Amino acid sequence: MKPFETLVAIVTGGASGIGAAIASRLVEGGATVAVFDLNPDASNGDLAVRVDVGDDASVRAGVARVAETFGRIDIVVNNAGIGAQGTVEDNTDEEWHRVYDVNVVGIVRVTRAALPWLRKSPSAAIVNTASIAATAGLPSRALYGATKGAVLALSLHLAADLVREGIRVNAVNPGTADTPWVGRLLDAVADPAAERAALAARQPLGRLVTADEVAEAVAYLASPRAGSTTGTSLAVDGGMQGLRVRPTS
Ligand code: NAI
Repeated sequence: MKPFETLVAIVTGGASGIGAAIASRLVEGGATVAVFDLNPDASNGDLAVRVDVGDDASVRAGVARVAETFGRIDIVVNNAGIGAQGTVEDNTDEEWHRVYDVNVVGIVRVTRAALPWLRKSPSAAIVNTASIAATAGLPSRALYGATKGAVLALSLHLAADLVREGIRVNAVNPGTADTPWVGRLLDAVADPAAERAALAARQPLGRLVTADEVAEAVAYLASPRAGSTTGTSLAVDGGMQGLRVRPTS
């Protein structure tokens, strides 16, 4: 039997990049997958729902639709996120509120709405997408990194609150991953090839992380086979957080 057979999963931000890879990987493992996204795309899952994680009514309607359609919710992957560049002198209060609202409060909204269903699941799991920006200081990522640090802390506190109910909560910390997001960042600079090479060189493995590699880690954390794993974060970052290697000459 496949590990996710009979289980129903929600993947936010599941129409692109890392989220799309997660949705596909869970389907491959036997799950029924609902993709929540601003621009939903059913090609990676069984149900595509237009949900804005920044809007509580939209989230509640999306969760209700999944429950009505499939009758259960076992796994929530809180992956939707938006970026921000700049130092604390560059981003306005409105930008701080907006990025926090999507990256952090978005997780709160989806989790809160899904919890009554997760409580009924025999193998409930929540996986949140944090980032290397949560655990390493990076230039011009003050706002984005602060939201991802909050995602990591929120994952721990959720895990503590829910452990006695048998609901596991973990996070994944990707390094720079080759997704449309990074493609957009590269398109915006004068020399995209040089910028891509610099990002690859920053990771000790010397290349960008793939979305499929992050999806594999999420699938592990979400799987009933990881039943003793809660309150952890798993880095998928080419060694960026933990290793100190000499530059290649
Ligand atoms: P992406 O831009 O390819 O995909 C993000 C998806 O989220 C898009 O489909 C977008 O429509 C959706 N989304 C954005 N705001 C939303 C909202 N308010 N409600 C619902 N859906 C919304 O980005 P990527 O690279 O796949 O990133 C996914 C997650 O991984 C994000 O949380 C990001 O912070 C995180 N991450 C990405 C890294 C990278 O290098 N690509 C590295 C570390 C973390």
